Amino acid sequence: MKDEGLQNGFLWGGAVAANQIEGAWNSDGKGISIADVVTEGGINKPREITKGVLKNKYYPMHVGSDFYHHYKEDIRMLSEMGFNCFRMSIAWTRIFPKGDDELPNEDGLKYYDDVFDECIKYGIKPIVTLSHFEMPYNLVKKYGGWRDRKTIKFFTKYAKVCLERYKNKVEYWMTFNEINNQTDFRVPLAMLADSGILIDNITDEEKERLMYQSSHNELVASALVVDMGHKINSNFKIGCMINMTPIYPNSSKPEDVFQSLKAMQHRYWYADVHVFGKYPTYMKAYLTNNKLIPNMEDEDEEILRKGKVDYIGLSYYNSNTVKYKSTNPEFKYAGSEVTVDNDNLKMNSWGWPIDPLGLRYSLNWLEDRYHKPLMIVENGIGAHDKVENGKIHDQYRINYLREHINAMIDAITEDGVNVIGYTPWGCIDLVSMGTGQMSKRYGFIYVNYDDEGNGDLRRLPKDSFYWYKKVISSNGKQLD
Ligand code: BG6
Repeated sequence: MKDEGLQNGFLWGGAVAANQIEGAWNSDGKGISIADVVTEGGINKPREITKGVLKNKYYPMHVGSDFYHHYKEDIRMLSEMGFNCFRMSIAWTRIFPKGDDELPNEDGLKYYDDVFDECIKYGIKPIVTLSHFEMPYNLVKKYGGWRDRKTIKFFTKYAKVCLERYKNKVEYWMTFNEINNQTDFRVPLAMLADSGILIDNITDEEKERLMYQSSHNELVASALVVDMGHKINSNFKIGCMINMTPIYPNSSKPEDVFQSLKAMQHRYWYADVHVFGKYPTYMKAYLTNNKLIPNMEDEDEEILRKGKVDYIGLSYYNSNTVKYKSTNPEFKYAGSEVTVDNDNLKMNSWGWPIDPLGLRYSLNWLEDRYHKPLMIVENGIGAHDKVENGKIHDQYRINYLREHINAMIDAITEDGVNVIGYTPWGCIDLVSMGTGQMSKRYGFIYVNYDDEGNGDLRRLPKDSFYWYKKVISSNGKQLD
């Protein structure tokens, strides 16, 4: 298997999300999304979530990388690199500006027709996420986001319009981006992005309760969309998308190992529901024992059972490590409270550990547990790039990606894992979700724009652009 390398037709591309790249936040009927009310931030400066769009604040997603007006040039450059797929998302607020509108916005629908046509012209398959951190802000204010069951109706109505409209243009879909990030229910941005919930002035107990309610409603919505999608076009492949951060034990001490197991359960039960169509027993036990069972309707069990996904999309950036604390004898895990640094790993400039073997570990773990096709729909390193005489020498990015692609190929050829595609994150520079910085760059294509909104948005290929082109044309054989 090793000599044969990757199969023909392996999906090579890159990934972006509408809220971080498109800009044009209020053009052609688009409504305000949750991404439009979050300001810039920095490594040690959390982004601020404001009450609506305020005049004296800077909102980097309003311009993004202006893909809205540059998509033709951008897609041409992606095709030059040899992409055969492109992961992107549809901004819900371009289609239903307020989320609860009666009719969709034709200008928004037409825009994605044009973008998909442009991809198809170059033989690039669009891989489309329906919800990537950009819920209509109106749904947050009026209904409290995903805590309200009505949101299921609004989302499935939006999804139906998209699945029907683009049924001959898009084959691969994903429902919710990184649905499992809300596990970290104490982090305001994670709760807004995933659950559409503003968590000021709420106790931790209440946050956790709301998080499980939102998660349940999203899982039901996702299952309804999968089932509906298969009826609209039986060739559709509809996946989930989880953030895959394997959580290692800090030592071989049984308590550390058990803490790591519990942490993994708390982060990955979402994938169990997406793939197996039901809640896992460990989660039922946790929710019952902690009086956190969300409100469910009788029909939900059947809905979850009928809406099992076709594949698992995953993002992988790094691993995490946990250490048992005697103050937490119940081995609870919500986020960072039991996380420790892993001395074996170097970190990037934003403190994210670099762990290529962790990707191979993750792919094996997912294969063993789910036996489903896997698509790596995000991977990459955020870095500061310097332009020197019109060139960007980003060897650090090449090194990171080479090691991770090698780990992926090992998982496929040595371990027999079924990975069907690889789309590294932010293939065109875009605004960082976590920090709101343009200067945390991931791309093969540089976008001339800074953290204060200066620059002409010109596109420049980086050294990694030419390197990735060789990787794709050799189907992963030429990585030096
Ligand atoms: C994933 C998200 O969490 O990681 C992306 O799906 C995000 O939206 C990416 O941009 C990288 O994170 P950051 O904070 O560096 O932008």
